[in-house]
Amino acid sequence: MLTSRLVVVVGSVNVDYVMKLGHRPAPGETVSDGVLEMHPGGKGANQAVAAARCGAAVEMVACVGADAAGQTRIADLAGERVGTGHVRRAPDALTGVAFVMLTPDGENAIATAAGANMALAIEDIEGAAALIGKARVLVAQLEVPLAAVARAVQLAGPETLVLLNCAPYVAMPPNMLDSVDVLVANENEAAAMTGARFEGVEGARRAGKLLLSLGPRAAVVTLGPLGAVVVAPEIEQHVPAPKVRVVDTTGAGDAFVGVLAAHLGAGNPLLEAVTIGTAVGSATTEQRGASPVVPESCMAWRAGAAGPD
Ligand code: RIB
Repeated sequence: MLTSRLVVVVGSVNVDYVMKLGHRPAPGETVSDGVLEMHPGGKGANQAVAAARCGAAVEMVACVGADAAGQTRIADLAGERVGTGHVRRAPDALTGVAFVMLTPDGENAIATAAGANMALAIEDIEGAAALIGKARVLVAQLEVPLAAVARAVQLAGPETLVLLNCAPYVAMPPNMLDSVDVLVANENEAAAMTGARFEGVEGARRAGKLLLSLGPRAAVVTLGPLGAVVVAPEIEQHVPAPKVRVVDTTGAGDAFVGVLAAHLGAGNPLLEAVTIGTAVGSATTEQRGASPVVPESCMAWRAGAAGPD
């Protein structure tokens, strides 16, 4: 039997060290005006928190280290009502870390040390097989081993909608995308997957069609401030993003994916879910940090709304 609105996220959990800088250092340059903040992060965890804040029942399948950061991150997720029964503490690895350099234009440059994320094994996924099989939505990204993601996709139940965010881009086995219902890629990831370059909304339409030809049932190409383009057999639609005052773009894509998952899990149509995801993702860029800035009650958001209904 299908568990109503259960979203299972297979993915990464990090601690983000965010350094605010006047400008990003050039090779060989030392920049000394940094201000450091620590935030919860990791694409998987950010997406799980976003979905949970939308009201979905969320379970995460992940690995953190046996260090203090691992314990903290599990507590953070539990505090966000994300189930952590399948978050394993890997004995010999450090919790994943991201170094985020954030400049006044709101843009970032991110380097990650995956640490325990790479310990996520096929056995971990198989240990969560019952959960994955009864999920309404399975969400995965590519900050954990591809073999783990591929196994999770195989274990999706007949009524499970598979949502794959191919971030960061990693070459995938040819048949993997055949089992994906909704593929989410930004312009760079779409370019890496298709071998072509795209620009703007028209480029994203072409990218979406090419991505669709790789196997998924629907493709969503995200365009940052320009919103997103949705391409499916009977849909080709640009969803514009509301105008915002950008402070930090970190995690905006993750908020988008988490909101999308929650709304698809609740049975909302793809276009409506993308529209709300775009609004919430844009809103997150007005604050600093990744997962903590996803607005509460985003299930109630509607396109163009300035806040929860
Ligand atoms: O997408 C943003 C996330 O990417 C950050 O939270 C960081 O941890 C990296 O995984």
